[in-house]
Amino acid sequence: MVDVLPHWDNVKVEIADGLGWVTLNRPSKRNAMDPNLNSEMIQVLDHLETVDEVKVVILTGAGESFSAGMDLKAYFREVDEAHPSVQIKVRRDASEWQWRRLMQFSKPTIAMVNGWCFGGAFTPLVGCDLAIASEDAVFGLSEINWGIPPGSVVSRAMAETVSHRDALWYIMTGDTFDGRQAEKMRLVNKAVPADQLRDEVVKLAERLKEKNPVVLRAAKTGFRFARDMPWEPASDYLYAKLEQSQFMDPENGRAKGLAQFLDEKAIRPGLQAYQRAATGE
Ligand code: COA
Repeated sequence: MVDVLPHWDNVKVEIADGLGWVTLNRPSKRNAMDPNLNSEMIQVLDHLETVDEVKVVILTGAGESFSAGMDLKAYFREVDEAHPSVQIKVRRDASEWQWRRLMQFSKPTIAMVNGWCFGGAFTPLVGCDLAIASEDAVFGLSEINWGIPPGSVVSRAMAETVSHRDALWYIMTGDTFDGRQAEKMRLVNKAVPADQLRDEVVKLAERLKEKNPVVLRAAKTGFRFARDMPWEPASDYLYAKLEQSQFMDPENGRAKGLAQFLDEKAIRPGLQAYQRAATGE
């Protein structure tokens, strides 16, 4: 692995084989997200967006934790005492990467949940396109246990992924649950034994790397935004995405895929991808 410059104090960034590994790196604080980490994460995502070599971004945590959520000392004690304009800036920075940038990120993103995942950490978890957890990772919406409702847009993130009943259960009880339960509730795509987590994530990332990146971007962005639209604008928007992907696609995947199926009889698109390498691009 090669360290990417510039260096960040609270986030470790490594690039290997086309994958951008982003590790929240405050293990002594269980990777709780403080204002410094949040503003660094904005820079990290902006940086990785422009590094051509990076095809897929993986978000994880250092040590035994994915992230223990918002840093309670920095966000509550310290920010409570700050000027309101500081509070606004600090909140905006957190939102900026934890959901806004992640949701609009031009490359596929995978959350690799290696351990503790609490409260505010649910936002970047859901902000990532896909998520794989260790079976014994521990999740929880602990806010109710210490006197606040779930912070920021955590409740919205729950509503985006899990059922009404499951969301309210965990929001209202503060019970913890493990990776297996997170998979059952569809908060993550899959839970695997801890010693297989990294391999499983790499396997998924390798599959995503094989796809046409322009079409992948249009497909995931189209899904994310269309789901909140009424049908008429969704139809228009999704056709616009389709046309945008044709216009922006340097490898002309649509024409090649059609030709390989209809003319050359070389592929079954229901069963395999069109041959990108065979196009010479
Ligand atoms: N904010 C600020 N500091 C945090 C933190 C958080 N969310 N989570 C952990 N830390 C700090 C602890 O204060 C402690 O700091 P210290 O060494 O200076 O005392 C350090 O991280 C280690 O925490 P500790 O509780 O000793 O670790 P643990 O491995 O026994 O337990 C957790 C791990 C995650 C279960 C526990 O730290 C915890 O419950 N954290 C709060 C989780 C939470 O409620 N998050 C929601 C925030 S929105």
